[in-house]
Amino acid sequence: MQENSNIRVFENKESMSEFSFKAWAELSRESVQEKGIFTVALSGGKTPMGFYQRLSAGREELPWDGTHIFQADERFVPLDHADNNYRMIKETLLDPVGLNTENAHPVPVMAETVKEAADEYQKHIEEFFTSSEIAEPVFDLIMLGIGDDGHTASLFPGEPTLSGTDRLIIPVEDVVTGHARISMTLRVINSAKNIIFLVSGKKKAHIVREILVDPEFVLPAAQVLPEKGNLFFFIDREAAEYLPL
Ligand code: 6PG
Repeated sequence: MQENSNIRVFENKESMSEFSFKAWAELSRESVQEKGIFTVALSGGKTPMGFYQRLSAGREELPWDGTHIFQADERFVPLDHADNNYRMIKETLLDPVGLNTENAHPVPVMAETVKEAADEYQKHIEEFFTSSEIAEPVFDLIMLGIGDDGHTASLFPGEPTLSGTDRLIIPVEDVVTGHARISMTLRVINSAKNIIFLVSGKKKAHIVREILVDPEFVLPAAQVLPEKGNLFFFIDREAAEYLPL
């Protein structure tokens, strides 16, 4: 583990969501106070749903006018498809908090091809972050999950696209669910100011140990090593079962 990582184990998903809410609240208030904006990229999957619902429940306490929500990855399926991550994020968070449309930045899955969707999203992110003082798009926070094969966002083990690309967003043929996907690369993930992994459940205990205890830095989630930012692992007790804590 690199020195700027923090591992925290929670009794259950509810207490993990509660702590994550407090972390988001602190980061978002600081960022909006300092520069008027808080940029965050969210993952899909099941784990973060409870946290997104907690954010919605506490919406009055958070600076949504300055908060811009992007996606860490997306499946190349229509917005109303059951497997579309944005549909879940919109239902559990964006609609309940009434986020302004201009603050929501979904992956353009209506593009003709997955490559076009990735190119368009990359262009959108570059334009959004382009300013004299920063060469790199730097997200204030990126929320990630870990698949039980060690993938994160839509960066799967063995993907040729895993490292060495200078792209921010790539198209990915997903061998797991069969859906083509669009994903942030390690370049943009590792440029973030704060990265929070949310991991829960017994199924993840083996991969959590592999990533946190004896990483060979081969698995994608083990290659999330922010250059300057902070790395947090918020894990419930079941997923932390094999950690020597
Ligand atoms: C996705 C996610 C993905 C997710 C992991 C964990 O599009 O599926 O972005 O990276 O975070 O697969 O998913 P669960 O939280 O459902 O276990």
